[in-house]
This record gives sequence, C-alpha cells and structure tokens, in this order.
Amino acid sequence: MDLLVIGGAGYIGSVVAGQLLAAGHRVTVYDNLVNGHRAAVPDGAAFVHGDVLDLDTLIRVLRRGFDGVLHFAALSLVGESVAEPARYFRTNVGGTVNVIEAMRATGTPRLVFSSTAAVYGVPDEVPIPETAPLRPISPYGASKLATDTLIGYAAAAHGIAAVSLRYFNVAGAWGGLGEDHRPETHLIPLALQVALGQRPHLAIFGSDYPTPDGTCIRDYLHVEDLGHAHLLALEAAQPGQHRIYNLGNGAGFSVREVIETARRVTGHPIPTVAAPRRAGDPPVLVASSERIRAELGWEPRKPDLETIIADAWEWTRAHPHGYPE
Ligand code: UD1
Repeated sequence: MDLLVIGGAGYIGSVVAGQLLAAGHRVTVYDNLVNGHRAAVPDGAAFVHGDVLDLDTLIRVLRRGFDGVLHFAALSLVGESVAEPARYFRTNVGGTVNVIEAMRATGTPRLVFSSTAAVYGVPDEVPIPETAPLRPISPYGASKLATDTLIGYAAAAHGIAAVSLRYFNVAGAWGGLGEDHRPETHLIPLALQVALGQRPHLAIFGSDYPTPDGTCIRDYLHVEDLGHAHLLALEAAQPGQHRIYNLGNGAGFSVREVIETARRVTGHPIPTVAAPRRAGDPPVLVASSERIRAELGWEPRKPDLETIIADAWEWTRAHPHGYPE
C-alpha cells in the first residue's frame, strides 16, 4: 500500500514507518518536527515537513493518491494538558478534523489512529476491556476520546475504514529507532538516563497508592509489538467501520518493579527519591487485549519487561544524547 504516516518522525510513528517499509509498503512521513526528529525518519521513506493543522498542505499531499493514513501526530503529556487544555484540543481534535477532511476531499480510504488508555480514566476493573466506561481525568485523555468519537461518526458518514488503537505504556526500541522526548517525562527512559549518569536520581511520584507497594501499576508493551498491531489494523480495516482495540501485555508492573528491573538490566543502582503524586495519574492501568488477539490474531512477541528495558537500554547507550539535531 501507499501510506501517509502523519507524525512519523516521533517515537512510535517512526517505528511503524520503518515496519511498514520492511513489509514492502511505500511510505511518506508527514511531520512538523516540533517533537519529532528528522533523523528518526527511516531510510526509504519520503518526507514532507508539514503541520497537521495546515489543511491545505494535507490535502495537497494526499491528492497524489494514498491507500491510507496512519495518524500519530499529537500532544501527549498529561500534566501539560492540564495546564494548556485548549492547545491540546486544537492539536489533537482539530488536527484529526483536518486529517478527516483531507481524506474526504481526496477519497483516501483507510485510517489508523493512535488513541490511549487515558480515555478510561480510573477504571472500575482491570484488565480494562474496550467496553469499560469512558471517563478521562485529563484534557489529554478527553481530547483523544473526542477524537475517537469523531472518527466513529466520520467512518459511518464517509465510508472510511478506521481503526483506533488504544495504547497503554510503550517502551523499547526497534530497527535503530528509539525514544527521544525533550523534555523526557516517561519512567523507563528517565531511569535509563540515571543509569547513564545523566541524572543523579529518579523521582517516584507517589508511594501511597492503593497498590501492593504503594506505587502506580502500568502495562508496558514493546514498541515492536505495538508497531505490528498497526500493520494488522491496516489490513483488517473495513469501509464504514470504526474498530477500537486496546493494546497492552495484560500484565502490570509497579514503578518500583520497573526500577528494579532497570537496575538488573543496567547493573546501575539507579538511586530514587520520594516525590508527591503527579496530577492525572490513575493508580492501576492494565489492558485487556483479548479483542485484538481474537479478531486480528495479534500476539506480543516480546512481552517480557526485562527484554523491553534491555532494548531501550541498548538504544540509549548507542544514542546517549538522543537523535542528532
Ligand atoms: C501517560 C498516559 C498515556 C500517554 C503517555 C504518553 C495516562 C494515564 N497515561 O502514561 O495515555 O499515552 O503518558 O505520554 O495518562 N513516574 C515516576 N517518576 C517519573 C516518571 C514517571 O514515578 O519520573 C511514574 C508515573 O507516575 C506513572 C508511571 O511512572 O505512574 C509511568 O509514567 P509515564 O512513563 O509518564 O507514563 P504514563 O503517565 O503512565
């Protein structure tokens, strides 16, 4: 297929672009390079420097004729979204409004969208199925839920074949592509920066959660397995349907367990300090990925937390300062 990967210079978008190329697809990456990196665009992909908020450019690019769009371009920091809700809605909802209008104007048939576990808020049950109540507790989660809702209506109205993938926590590296956020806020890359000696210690945000060791529990998925799900979603998408799938390993690890594993993998003590809870953090988020396993035959190949962290560590050591500017 001939595919446009919007946000394909970011962490997950670049890995998926690389996997699409490896599977024999033709790939064009579209990215504004505000949070993405030119050096993360995989060899073999064409590149367009463009913004998702620029409808005219999106239409001009899609007019060439694409089989589908994979849409990763979004703002994704929960804390920042609390401080700047309108900016989050403009980029995340408004950006997707443009993607859909451009697809409609050019007759582009398929859409795979990056959604998130943050749409569920604080769940009543774990593992979380797709049928769980949708009660986001941050503007970030609310903006992604609004976008999922829009995609559902657009699929029905315009016959678009759409799939939303709701990511839980993603980590690891693939094909020389890894995680380089500036500033970095995610647990695993921060722990690895401490192990590299770039930071003195890691803050643990909250030790009084209702969990066995008092720290938050998350479901960490290898970016390689997450990427693979996008390829399956693209093949399975059906005109006029909007499918929604949760993506995680189905196993939860506490912040302390993640740090302990990072210590084992790196051989570094990774000192920690206690810090207050971070706003918008639910105590436990673990995915039920039964639906995508049953319907698309998806199966994680690297479910082991140690492998996930080891692959991230290898990338971090090879790129101690991230991608070149
Ligand atoms: C969040 C979002 C997720 C979003 C992702 C991308 C929620 C519930 N999850 O994941 O939807 O796609 O960001 O940005 O909103 N932690 C520390 N110390 C640190 C950093 C993190 O203790 O220095 C803890 C956090 O409190 C959390 C866990 O580690 O409990 C994982 O945090 P992080 O890696 O930032 O991901 P999430 O916030 O879970």
